[in-house]
Amino acid sequence: MTYHIPVMLKECLAGLNIHDNAIIVDATMGGGGHSEAILESNPTVHLYAFDQDPDAIEFASKRLSPYSGRVTIIEDNFAKLRTRLAFQEINRVDGILFDLGVSSFQIDEARRGFTFSQDGPLDMRMDKKGELTAEIILNEYSLDALTKVIRDYGEEKSAWKIAKLIVKEREERKFRTSNDLNKLIQANFQINPKFITKILSRVYQALRIEVNQEMEVLTSVLKDALNILNPGGRLVIESYHSLEDKIVKDFMKFESLECTCPPNFPICNCGKKSTLKILTRKPLVADISEVNDNNRSRSAKLRIAEKL
Ligand SMILES: C[S@@+](CC[C@H](N)C(=O)[O-])C[C@H]1O[C@@H](n2cnc3c(N)ncnc32)[C@H](O)[C@@H]1O
Repeated sequence: MTYHIPVMLKECLAGLNIHDNAIIVDATMGGGGHSEAILESNPTVHLYAFDQDPDAIEFASKRLSPYSGRVTIIEDNFAKLRTRLAFQEINRVDGILFDLGVSSFQIDEARRGFTFSQDGPLDMRMDKKGELTAEIILNEYSLDALTKVIRDYGEEKSAWKIAKLIVKEREERKFRTSNDLNKLIQANFQINPKFITKILSRVYQALRIEVNQEMEVLTSVLKDALNILNPGGRLVIESYHSLEDKIVKDFMKFESLECTCPPNFPICNCGKKSTLKILTRKPLVADISEVNDNNRSRSAKLRIAEKL
């Protein structure tokens, strides 16, 4: 079974710039494709690999078992990166990779509820211990809260109309499976099936981001990641939609600035120092042959920065 094809593998490895005895963190291990390549790239590297999804932990633990002396797998949210590493007495690392979002396995498994293309429970939790599910959002969020989720995280223009339909529908029957949601949208948007698919992908993306609090978690981890990097250490971040890419881009830009005083100030009094050097002025994207081989690489944006 192909659990997940790692995206821009060569570029991520080059970005990490792994040296002898490096300590590297893969914050999003998934099926272990990037992790395995990191371990293969240098026999002296030690890898700390995180994932919050027990299916990923089970699959990648087997895949990475040949490297058992050099890999430490941690089942947790990468929001706890710093504390979980501190438990292992690791306070400094040489490179951190984030390959954000969900794996192909998570999307393809109907029982996980991430996809609109198969019927399944409206779950969408990466961490199955999490309390919030897509079903709870659809059945319990207010009209305003639903509109905000669909508009902010799905960037869907018809957010209010969709939220209103959801609120009306659930007065009759609760949402239980993806088909319940799909039918509602299909019945109320009498347009080209291609546009229906676009609307569905935006609504599903919005629900997934809210269920897993993806924006909050990403925003909070970046500073911790920077703080634990050794000087010269690399931050390598792959994102798959504009919302997460913007968080990464703004963070790297801010951390790379030497001064944040208004331009008309004669002398700097902000005290800001730059802590990162951006190595990718524009994000790297997958080349055409990779996109042809792996359609899921088409939206990837890779940003790399070095700790000063
Ligand atoms: C795109 S996949 C990574 C694929 C991986 N690079 C590979 O080569 O197979 C993203 C993975 O990150 C995990 N993930 C996403 N957000 C996470 C978070 N906040 N904490 C821990 N794991 C997370 C998901 O469960 C998923 O397995």
